[in-house]
Order: sequence, then C-alpha cells, then structure tokens
Amino acid sequence: RHHLLTAQLFFNTVCVCVCVCVCVCMQSCHATKPDMLNVHLVPHTHDDVGWLKTVDQYYYGDRNDIQHAGVQYILDSVVDQLIKNPDRRFIYVETAFFYRWWKQQSSATQQTVKQLVDEGRLEFVNGGWCMSDEATTHYSAVIDQMTIGLRFLNETFGPCGRPRVAWHIDPFGHAREHASMFAQMGYDGLFFGRLDYQDRAHRMREKEQELLWRASDSLTPPMADLFTGILPNGYNPPEGFCWDQFCDDPPIRDDPDLEDYNVDDVVKRFLAIAKNQATVYKTNHIIMTMGSDFQYENANLWYKNLDKLIHYVNALQAKGSKVNVLYSTPSCYLQELHRANLTWALKTDDFFPYADDAHDFWTGYFTSRPALKRYERISNGNLQVICNQLEVLGGPVSRKGPFGEGDSQTMKKAMAVAQHHDAVSGTEKQHVANDYARKLAEGWQHCQVVVSNSLAGLSSSSAERIYCDNLNVSVCPLTESSKKFSVNVYNPLAQPVNWAVRLPVNGTAYSVSDAKGRSVVPVSRATQNVRRNRGFAVNELVFQVQAPPLGYTIYFVSLRQDGPPPASTQPRPPTVIKNKYRKLNICVYVLQFLQVTFDPDTGLLSSLSNLETKQTIKLTQNFYWYNASDGKNMDSSQPSGAYIFRPNSSTPFVYVSPQTSVVQEVRQWFAPWVSQVVRLYTDSRTLELEWTVGPVPIDDHLGKEVITRLDTSIKTSEIFYTDSNGREVLQRRKDFRPTWQLKQSEPIAGNYYPINSRAFIKDDEDQLTVVTDRSQGGASIQNGSLEIMLHRRLLYDDFRGVGEPLNEISSIFPEGLVVRGRLLLSLDRPPTAADTHRPLAQQVVLFKWFCPVSQLRTHHFSGLQAALPPAVHLLTLTQWDKDKVLLRLEHQFQSWESKRNSKPVTVNLQKLFSTLDVLGASELNLSANQWKDEMSRFDWTPQTDEKPLLKTFEDHSDWEVTLRPMEIRTFLLRVRLR
Ligand SMILES: *[C@@H]1O[C@H](CO)[C@@H](O)[C@H](O)[C@H]1NC(C)=O
Ligand SMILES: *[C@@H]1O[C@H](CO)[C@@H](O)[C@H](O)[C@H]1NC(C)=O
Ligand SMILES: *[C@@H]1O[C@H](CO)[C@@H](O)[C@H](O)[C@H]1NC(C)=O
Ligand SMILES: [Zn+2]
Repeated sequence: RHHLLTAQLFFNTVCVCVCVCVCVCMQSCHATKPDMLNVHLVPHTHDDVGWLKTVDQYYYGDRNDIQHAGVQYILDSVVDQLIKNPDRRFIYVETAFFYRWWKQQSSATQQTVKQLVDEGRLEFVNGGWCMSDEATTHYSAVIDQMTIGLRFLNETFGPCGRPRVAWHIDPFGHAREHASMFAQMGYDGLFFGRLDYQDRAHRMREKEQELLWRASDSLTPPMADLFTGILPNGYNPPEGFCWDQFCDDPPIRDDPDLEDYNVDDVVKRFLAIAKNQATVYKTNHIIMTMGSDFQYENANLWYKNLDKLIHYVNALQAKGSKVNVLYSTPSCYLQELHRANLTWALKTDDFFPYADDAHDFWTGYFTSRPALKRYERISNGNLQVICNQLEVLGGPVSRKGPFGEGDSQTMKKAMAVAQHHDAVSGTEKQHVANDYARKLAEGWQHCQVVVSNSLAGLSSSSAERIYCDNLNVSVCPLTESSKKFSVNVYNPLAQPVNWAVRLPVNGTAYSVSDAKGRSVVPVSRATQNVRRNRGFAVNELVFQVQAPPLGYTIYFVSLRQDGPPPASTQPRPPTVIKNKYRKLNICVYVLQFLQVTFDPDTGLLSSLSNLETKQTIKLTQNFYWYNASDGKNMDSSQPSGAYIFRPNSSTPFVYVSPQTSVVQEVRQWFAPWVSQVVRLYTDSRTLELEWTVGPVPIDDHLGKEVITRLDTSIKTSEIFYTDSNGREVLQRRKDFRPTWQLKQSEPIAGNYYPINSRAFIKDDEDQLTVVTDRSQGGASIQNGSLEIMLHRRLLYDDFRGVGEPLNEISSIFPEGLVVRGRLLLSLDRPPTAADTHRPLAQQVVLFKWFCPVSQLRTHHFSGLQAALPPAVHLLTLTQWDKDKVLLRLEHQFQSWESKRNSKPVTVNLQKLFSTLDVLGASELNLSANQWKDEMSRFDWTPQTDEKPLLKTFEDHSDWEVTLRPMEIRTFLLRVRLR
C-alpha cells in the first residue's frame, strides 16, 4: 500500500528496476547439489576502518612498517582477478574504503565494476560506512553510519548494490539492538564470528550455530526477527588453507611430474575439514570464509589456489564423492538455508559478554579510552542536533551564508568512522585514537559554520557565535572576560525541557533575564587542577534555562558585582544545613524533589529520597580500583588490556573518607586523583554526580581499573538491567546466561556488561536508575549494588593485536589522562521510572547550548508547531537533498515499561514543523535505502510454537502516522521553507 502521497512515479520506476535486478543478482548464485554436502567458499577481506594504522594509512598502504595493509591495492587486485574468471566471487564490506577507491577510478573501471555487481560477482555485504562496534555505540550513530554507506551503494549501483546480509564478523560480542536494527534495515540475515567459547561449544553440540534472533520484546514479530549464523572459524579460512601472500600454507602443487605434487593431500585434508564442519550445522550447506584481515592485496594467490581446490575436490564426484565446493557469497549461502525450510532455535537475549577463554573476558573495552568515548558522544550530539537539525530549520542559507560555506558531511563521515569496532571501542593504537578525535574536531569546525549561518537566518542577526567547547572544565574566554553577553540555548528534543547551564565567570553577581535558580559558585579545586592553564575564571555562574521543542531561547547575562557580594543580593543557597558534625558541615542536602544525606563519619553519600513519591533508600557511594592483572599469575597469563578486563582479585581497593566541603554543592575529595561534586538542581528530579578521575598513579607499578559503586537497600536478587545501544533494556543476572549453563571463571570480569546510556536496579518498591554520559562497563556483584567502571590505566598489552598497553597520556596531561564525567541518578517507583529515565537519557545524548557575543533581541524560536507527545522522540531530522529532508520518529518506550507512555501514539506529519511546509512524504526502511512497501525479507520459522501476534495495523490517514512502543519510522519528506 502506498499510503503516502508523493513520488508515485518515482516508485514505479524503482519497482521495475528492483524486480529485474533482484532476479539477476539471485541467479548469479552458483547451482548447488541437493544430494551432496555443498561447501560455500566466500572470498573476503576484513578491512578495519582504523586500528593499528589510521583509516588513511590503511587505504593507501602507508606505514607498512606497523602492519602490511593497503586497501586500494586490495580492490585493484580483486577486480582484476574477478574479471579473469566469471566463476569467482568476492564480497566487500566497508563502504568508507570502497567509496574512496571508487572516486579514483576511471569511468571504464567504474563500468566494469558495475557489471561485476549486477552479475553478483562482486557483492556488497553489510555496506555501512564501517562495521560498527556493538558494545559501545549508540543506536542513533549506528543508524546514521549505516545510512551513509547504504545510500552511496544505492545511488552508485541501484538495487543490486543493496546488501542482503549483515556481516559483523569481528565485533567482540553482539548486541540485541544491533540485530533489531539490521532487521528493520531489511537484511535477511546476520553472520558473525565471535561468541563466548562456552556458548559456542554448547551450540555446536546442539547444532544451534544458526538460529533466529528475536531482537525486541516490544516490536511485533517478525519486525525485529533476524536469522543469525555463527561462522565456523571466526572469519578465517580453515587450518592449512590460507593462500594470502602473507600466509605460509602450502599452495596447491598440481604438476604430477614434480616431486612435491600435493593435490591428493590437499583434497584429503579439505574433505576431512568439510565433513567435520558439517556435523555441527543443520543443513547440507556449510560456509567457509576464505580470507582475513587486509588479505587479497595480491588476489591472484588466493584465486589461483581456490580455482584449483574447487576443480580437484569436485573432480572426485565422478568417483562417488558427495562433496560439492563452490564460489559463493553470504547471501547465496543464506538463500540455501532458507530453501531448506527448517525450524531454528529462538534467541531473545544477547551475546555479551564475550570470552574466548576462561580468564579472557572482553569486558575492558566497554570502558577503555573513556575520554574518546565521551568525545564521540558529544560529537553525536553536535551532529544530530546542531548540525543536522539547524541545517534543515535554517534552509539553504545554512550551507552558504554570512559566515561562509559549511557542511554537515565532514562531521557525518567522521562520526561514521568513529563507530568502527576499533574506534569508539577504544581498542586502537594511541595515534589512531588521536586521528579519530582529530576527524571529529574537524567535522565540528565545518558544522559550526552551518550553525552560525542557520541561527543568523533564524534570528535575523549575524552576531558572531562563540562555541565554548571546554565548559566541562570551566573554560570559556568569552564569558570569563565579558560584562554583558547573551547565551543561546538550543533544545533538540520534541518536548520542552529545562536544564542547568554553568558558565565560567570572574564576577560574583549577575543578572540573567528570566532565569530561575541563579547562583555563583567558586570553581572547584578539581576543576582548577584539570583545566591547568587553559582558563582562569574564579567562579561559575549557574542558572536554569528552558527552551521550546526543537528550538532555542536567548538569555541575557550582565555583571552586577565584581567584588564579594553583599549578603542581601546573594542568591539563596540550595542547601539546607540541618546539623553540624565533626568533619562535615552538612548532612542533608534537599531541593524541591530530592533529598540526599551524607554519613557524618565517613563523608559518603548515605541515602537518597524522592520527596514527591515519598521513597527513601539507603545509598552509599564510593570509589574503588581493581588491581589489573599483570599476567604473572597461576591460573592464566592473561593481563588486563585494552580489550580484556581481568582484576587480580575480586576485592577492589577503596578510599574510605573523602574530605568534604559544601559550597552550595557537595564537593568530595577522595584522593589527589579522585574527586566528585554532588549536585541537585532547581526543577530537576535527578541527582548529579560529577566525577573526576586521573591522573591514575602508576608509580607503584600497578595497573588500575577505577570504578564507582552504589550500594543500596534495594533487594535485587542479583539482577540488574542495562540498555542495549541506548534503546531497549535487558535483564542481567549474576553468574548466569539465559541460553546455556555458565561455568563462571572470572567472578568480576565475567559479570560485566556494556552500559550505553543507562542501568538500573529495582525491587517491587524502588528503582534506582543511573544515566551515564558515555558508554561504560558495569556490573552488579552484590545484592543491591551497582558498579560502573570509569577509567582504566594499564601497563601491559593483552595479546589481542593492538600491541600497546592502555596507558593514555597527552601533551596537557603528560602524567596521565584526567577524565571527568557525570552520572545522573533518579529514584522512582518501578512502573513510572521509565517516564523519567527515557527522556533524561535522550537529553544527555543530545544536549547542547552555546553563547553568541553581542546583544540580540529577546528571542524564542521553536521549529515545531507544538510539542510532540512524551513518547515520541525526534530521532533524525536531516537534509537529504535540495528539497527533501529525512525524518525519523521514534516511540521511545518499551511495551511493558510505562503505564502512561507505553501506548501507541499518532503524529500528523503535516502539522509538525513551524517553518516548513511538508508537501509529500514516503516511508522508507530504517536505513533509508529501500521504500517501505518494497521491503520483503525471508521469513524463518522458530522452533518454539509460540505464534507471534500479528496485529495488522493501519495509519488513520495519509498524514497521520502511528508509532507503537519502540517503533522507529523513517520518512523522506518533500518540504518548502515557509
Ligand atoms: C516448509 O515446511 C512446511 C512444514 O514443514 C511445509 O508445510 C511447507 O510446504 C514447506 N515449504 C516449502 C516451500 O517447501
Ligand atoms: C579572572 O580572574 C583571575 C583571578 O583573579 C585572573 O587570573 C584572570 O585573568 C581573570 N580573567 C579575566 C578575563 O579577566
Ligand atoms: C536509490 O537510488 C536511486 C538512484 O540510483 C534513486 O532513484 C532511488 O530513489 C534510491 N532509492 C532510495 C530508497 O532512496
Ligand atoms: Zn576488525
């Protein structure tokens, strides 16, 4: 049903093309033999978008002293070899590389490559800009990076360039939300290589290495169902069959006159491996990945030997052999599995954590490089909000206006690269991490021009905007030195929100137009330490701001007092001091909605109350560090490293009594390298814990993994909850895996899970939710407790290839990186908790504000006609081409989560925007590379008989679209600026 108006014509053209092309691409699969074991050989290369070398070094083959790898030569060589023999196949995965290569080819080569793609000889799989990490990425950034890659493939190759298979062969554990997204992007299946070694052993026994993943508990099946195949050998060739230029396995020597003729030996070994592999899979088809990291630079070696292998193995069929070998691709293999018409084991949890041996849990990278992880998250906010939204709202003047030419593309690509599984994951070499950060910074420079232009247009003032990017350490030369300035605060969400702004200043009293909760606090010792000589402000001006949905408000700030403030004008401190104790001058800290108490003896937080719901829990919070294993250990020689977390002991070291001071906020000083500020804000229902950790000392030669732990009176029965890529929440239970009997060998590291935006613990009465400002690892080791790893500094490499200890220093922090972040805590009744943490997490991901210099007229602007219902998140609003914008609306609640909000909601697309007329709309799949009504995926039958509830569902009209819990709907809108 073309339920949306425009582009009918458009539609028909595409449709014809799809029909023709799908047939062609599918016919290109080599025939298989139903009565034989069919071995699908899949030639492939795994090209990391940065790891030991930067993405550019990998592309050109620069710095081969670090690692011999050059992607441009791989593509050159493979194309030559594909032309030589039409039977040969190749798959390509990372569009970030392919795109660079394509741009440099002659039109004759491009024509040739198009033909190879049309004939299915070169097949794109996955096809995003990179192969994203699954533990530490946020869904919004993953959807974006897939969208750019797939858009390039569609625009370059049409429907034959549309990958049918998701290919996540290397990520270190697999997130349920990734599977859900892939399903909604139209993929027919997913293949990966890494899973827990115990899980694999179990699945091999049960023949469950191929399964059906039901990746959402809210979306109606089969919307988020994804067929999932676990590859037999990671992504490497079977033992003895690596024919790359850097492999040492014997080539096929098939001249019978020569002494070392080895065809019989090779064939015999191959048949043995194939038959063995067939015993742990269900059908008479098996897959072998013939390639590995950066292989095929000299593709002739591989193909010459594969041609011979196929020839000699199949020649034996004449003598009764029942093994048939063929060149294949993942989608050809998947097609055969689908044809087999079997039922498949159903999985509803995820594949975390990943261990490849008893003491080798890959749970360290959940936290590795916390500063890069935060910068990636901030950049996502900058891109989504500032760049994408304001580019649309401002119209064409945003790209070319009073401040010059800007673009969002640079930032989009930088963000896409940063999603790679050795980027935001923190598992790259230091110089590569620096390069990712540099790319993001460059992207932001391009975006700033877009934003300045857009705001100039919207506010009819071309006053220069200053972007204060170091506010986390109280640095902003403008606010520090000006007596009068205005602050432009922008709200990217579809609902109005208020939040607190903190600005470095030198004065002691300010007036701020219309702002509530105004106060001036001295810059803390921790902040002075961490900002070093980058700023000199003595105070911070704090006030509450409010901005309309998808819009901004401008606040005017003027200095009233330079010296110490007279008592009468001093803003009322938000603290109520009830008692004075020996060490502490405070014990209770109350504001409107929340109350916290501190233990007068230890100085630690001791309880948290929600005054609205009249709930109180005991809550002790402290900082600890695990001593990282150095590998010199009886059980195993595995040290902690960038990937792996392995504490020496299950008992972490602790700092018992912080020094505490109260200056309208509670400042705790645990050690010269660990401090924290506890804050409550007017109008806020959350407690803010701003932690600062570093430089982590290593003069004792001990690597350290720093955590904070919340110990509460909540009765958790060893269960806690973490989000998956920032979206649906999964239950985690200590020493337990839902689909196999776990033999726990690492009591701490084996219980760590990724937290992308939130984690919570609850019982029937109380739910304590922690919203984080970046991805981190976390666990619940004791009843009622939740720990989050904040920072890691390690002295050894962990033998997973990166070849460097995770020991971050920089020019500003030569003695070790200092990291600062925030945890936001809320205490609610479980049935209403999601009403708080869902919007809060979106705010933390997207929040942004900045300061223009000169005076402007008081100004409010909202890009929406009205706020959207609380359940609706405006996930994407970005320019697509000249007159079209891409819009994604998301229902941000799970079906069971909220009494009030877990219901379908309807939005009228024509009544959304205040500055744009929507002239037409067509719905797309999640990755925007296929029209929604042309999506047709394989269906698969799960083993269990539970019949999915197939609620069919119609929108009320062409413009009214309904979103059910957790649903994301993607639209291409034709718009005109009003
Ligand atoms: C698949 O199997 C089911 C039951 O086992 C059968 O009813 C159906 O016809 C089969 N489909 C095909 C295409 O063979
Ligand atoms: C703010 O005050 C500090 C301390 O007095 C001083 O070092 C700094 O230069 C001042 N900043 C400005 C911009 O005047
Ligand atoms: C795919 O690309 C073609 C141009 O090659 C374009 O006409 C079509 O609209 C694109 N499809 C989608 C869903 O964007
Ligand atoms: Zn990789």
